[in-house]
Amino acid sequence: MAQPRITGLSLARLILSLLLVTSSSSQDHDDQHHFQVFHVSDSLQQARQVFSPNLAQSLYFSNYSADSLSLTLHPRSSLPSDRYSNNYTFLTLSRLARDDARVRWLLSHTRDSPAPSPYKRVRHPDQFESPLISGIGLGSGEYFARIGVGRPAKEFYMVIDTGSDVSWLQCQPCYDCYQQSDPIFDSSASSTYEPLTCKTEQCASLDISACSRMGSCIYQVSYGDGSYTVGNFATETISFGATGAVPNVAIGCGHDNEGLFSGSAGLLGLGGGKLSLPSQIKANSFSYCLVNRDSSSTSTLEFNTARPADAVLAPLLRNPSIKTFRYVGLTGISVGGRAVPIPSSLIALGSDGRGGVIIDSGTSVTRLRTEVYSLVRDAFRSMTQNLPPAGGFSLFDTCYNLNGMSRVKVPTLSFQFSGGKTLSLPPTNYLIPVDDGGKFCFAFAGTSGPLSIMGNVQQQGTRVSFDLANNYIGFSPNKC
Ligand SMILES: *[C@@H]1O[C@H](CO)[C@@H](O)[C@H](O)[C@H]1NC(C)=O
Ligand SMILES: *[C@@H]1O[C@H](CO)[C@@H](O)[C@H](O)[C@H]1NC(C)=O
Repeated sequence: MAQPRITGLSLARLILSLLLVTSSSSQDHDDQHHFQVFHVSDSLQQARQVFSPNLAQSLYFSNYSADSLSLTLHPRSSLPSDRYSNNYTFLTLSRLARDDARVRWLLSHTRDSPAPSPYKRVRHPDQFESPLISGIGLGSGEYFARIGVGRPAKEFYMVIDTGSDVSWLQCQPCYDCYQQSDPIFDSSASSTYEPLTCKTEQCASLDISACSRMGSCIYQVSYGDGSYTVGNFATETISFGATGAVPNVAIGCGHDNEGLFSGSAGLLGLGGGKLSLPSQIKANSFSYCLVNRDSSSTSTLEFNTARPADAVLAPLLRNPSIKTFRYVGLTGISVGGRAVPIPSSLIALGSDGRGGVIIDSGTSVTRLRTEVYSLVRDAFRSMTQNLPPAGGFSLFDTCYNLNGMSRVKVPTLSFQFSGGKTLSLPPTNYLIPVDDGGKFCFAFAGTSGPLSIMGNVQQQGTRVSFDLANNYIGFSPNKC
């Protein structure tokens, strides 16, 4: 039997062809990794659907242990009060106006801007084009948790906010209340409502407080642009659907609430300060998943559940001078697989408490300090020269006309964290429709201050877990 004989020449050919195969397959692999297909028509269809009500559906159930608590989480668009017009451009402009106010409010907490002065009401009624922005100061408030307050528990839609600590809701009797979708909370109908006195630790922990003649604690939260809530600081039982209830949680019972948006009953503070809900219920962790803002699905806000095993981990950093903010250890950004040359000093949290990157549930569009934004944008533009450009839109300066296209290839955008992990975003988290005619914009923007903010557009569809015991933030794509 003749053995096949490998000659020197055929061996060289074999090696060469193997090399070619290897290199071309690794090229394909890199390409898949560094570029992604963006489904333009799916994204547009979702944008158009925002005006047609659908039955809300929850897609994800995680592992519950005995002490875990869970709330349903709704995007603003699933609330009846949000169906104001059939105009997606208008909807986008309203969202961006809320977002702008939110960012200015967040920045007002940093040392670079003066803090809003207590009890001072400044109004700028003409600042925004849109009539929809009552409640601008409260922030974009794009996501609402359904939470029970009092005993018997009454359920309310409350904005979730990782950028503030004090939870509050509108309370009867109303000296001034804005419109909300649920009946206004009546503390006299709850057996567990207990006003706090001025001498309590909770009262002392408030940034702005006062004492009534009867010695009860009065809280105020001001949002810098004239919006505020004032009322009694009290303890109440907070319930988490069927998963449990926690007594004696300090919340604000707001009798005078001004400039705040319609719809929600109040706000759930998820910040890092003493008075935030996670701090008060001594949660080891909490997590949320923000569904696509245009969808009518719901997801969950959970406390004390194990984070998904596939989570990309990033350090959760603390800033001793602003305990409320949740800082993430971002070290770099890459576009199309190439690291953008960002000097680390521009995104690091300084030892003086300046700079850094916070992760925020209430800001929509990620803000990077101007120098960093320009570098990222230029990298993105240079790799999207095949896409038809379109003019800017509001704060966006990089837009494309994808009208008539069903899918396009776009460079992958990824965040690098200290510790070495990388989070690659799906294209829907950085190319967003701004009208219903096929105009899409690169959903990042610059900000003049040293603080950068990771917004909720970039967190869509991702379960974001805050491991408070071990100081990690976990990102798990597709876990809503
Ligand atoms: C639930 O826990 C089990 C065992 O601990 C694990 O195998 C499973 O993947 C978990 N499910 C989810 C959705 O995290
Ligand atoms: C939609 O809203 C935008 C911005 O307010 C406006 O310019 C445009 O004319 C509106 N379109 C329609 C069809 O009403």
